[in-house]
Amino acid sequence: MTESLLMLYADHLAIATARTEAALERHGVDTLVLDAGEAIAKSRFDDQWFAYRPVAHFAWWLPLYAPGSCLVLRQGRRPTLLWHDPQSYWEAPPPPSHHGFAAHMDVQLVQHSSGLPADLLAGRCAVVSESEARASLLVPDAAWNPAALLADLDDARTIKTPYEIACLAEANARAARGHDTLRQAFAAGGRSELDLHLDYLRATWQDDAETPYKNIVALDQHAATLHHIAYGRGSPGDSAGSLLLDAGATCHGYHADITRTWVRGSGEAADRFKALVTSVDRLQQDLCERIAIGLPYEDLHDHAHLLVGQALRQLGVVRASAEAAVAKDITFAFFPHGLGHSLGLQTHDVGCARIQPRSDNPWLRNTSTIAPGQVFTIEPGVYFIEGLLGPLRASPAGRDVDWRLVDALRPFGGVRIEDDVVVDAGRGHLNLTRAVLPEGGGAA
Ligand code: GLY
Ligand code: MN
Repeated sequence: MTESLLMLYADHLAIATARTEAALERHGVDTLVLDAGEAIAKSRFDDQWFAYRPVAHFAWWLPLYAPGSCLVLRQGRRPTLLWHDPQSYWEAPPPPSHHGFAAHMDVQLVQHSSGLPADLLAGRCAVVSESEARASLLVPDAAWNPAALLADLDDARTIKTPYEIACLAEANARAARGHDTLRQAFAAGGRSELDLHLDYLRATWQDDAETPYKNIVALDQHAATLHHIAYGRGSPGDSAGSLLLDAGATCHGYHADITRTWVRGSGEAADRFKALVTSVDRLQQDLCERIAIGLPYEDLHDHAHLLVGQALRQLGVVRASAEAAVAKDITFAFFPHGLGHSLGLQTHDVGCARIQPRSDNPWLRNTSTIAPGQVFTIEPGVYFIEGLLGPLRASPAGRDVDWRLVDALRPFGGVRIEDDVVVDAGRGHLNLTRAVLPEGGGAA
């Protein structure tokens, strides 16, 4: 870790402390215990475990992957880290990605999970933990996950500190190497989805379990499955015409989440699909330009539908006006997910999704009012999903669609372009992804 990142980390801890103390004050809590969580069993009938990932409330303070650990926070006191080190000869956790935290907290190594020492606790105590049983083991009679306090802490994490933005930028730079590698591998041809997934892991130097979310690697019509992770293994030969890659990387626990769509080959259908990718790329950048402090994110999502309607009309897929295509739910059939979500220690950070979206935006995960320091994705898409287009075709609104063109484009599956952006008080926004991966998609 560089000296300057270490300084930013110290500032980050000071900000996290101030925000947390203010939340504790508001909720009348004197001692807060953040449980790092434990590995989760894959099945109660087995002895295998999912790869461990620390709870975001804990990970906000330090990049330690040691299940069974916890952090004790008290007003006006240095934090105490109880670092669980079970001395197991079966498995050992990875070392922390940096040790900057050691200068800012008292660290005690513990070998067994047990009740916390009484001298660490004072007054009213709350425990944030995945499990009620573990919370009461740590501090009997403490409040477990008090909803209003948790909501404030989730909220506090939506405004990123300069340290967090630096980590998110680095995660983007790392993911960009994987995207560049896969664009070239796809252009060369002959790689299966599994090959491409493995190429991505190598290029970004990540184990599968370390990626922020399972890589989405979709060739051709697989791109019509929004989260396609059942990788094809047979060589696609030269038939693959499109690649949708939605894949990220992490830095000190912070996630990048990037999608690019590439097209190969020639012929009328490939050219029409390339034109669609170019349109989605342009409208994605138009949406980024519209980011403004005080604007409800849901308005941006609504505007995305209008732009998708315009693009579909310009390309001849839809004959109705953009407004009519939105009103008749035609755009929803082609763009059925939310425009984006808050991003941080969680790929879908929850603090910007505390309010339900309108019922016609069921999958929107960002319902906040745009504010300086937020980091979120902008990820419009257009897909050819049989389960949504079939009913549209059978409905009166289906008469506004050129189904011959839809059938020609269907083998390409769909397009999504996704960047990670920071809302900046001075400059409107800063695009962390385009800074390292300028192109959104097009000809590979
Ligand atoms: N990149 C996966 C998602 O945002 O759902
Ligand atoms: Mn995303």
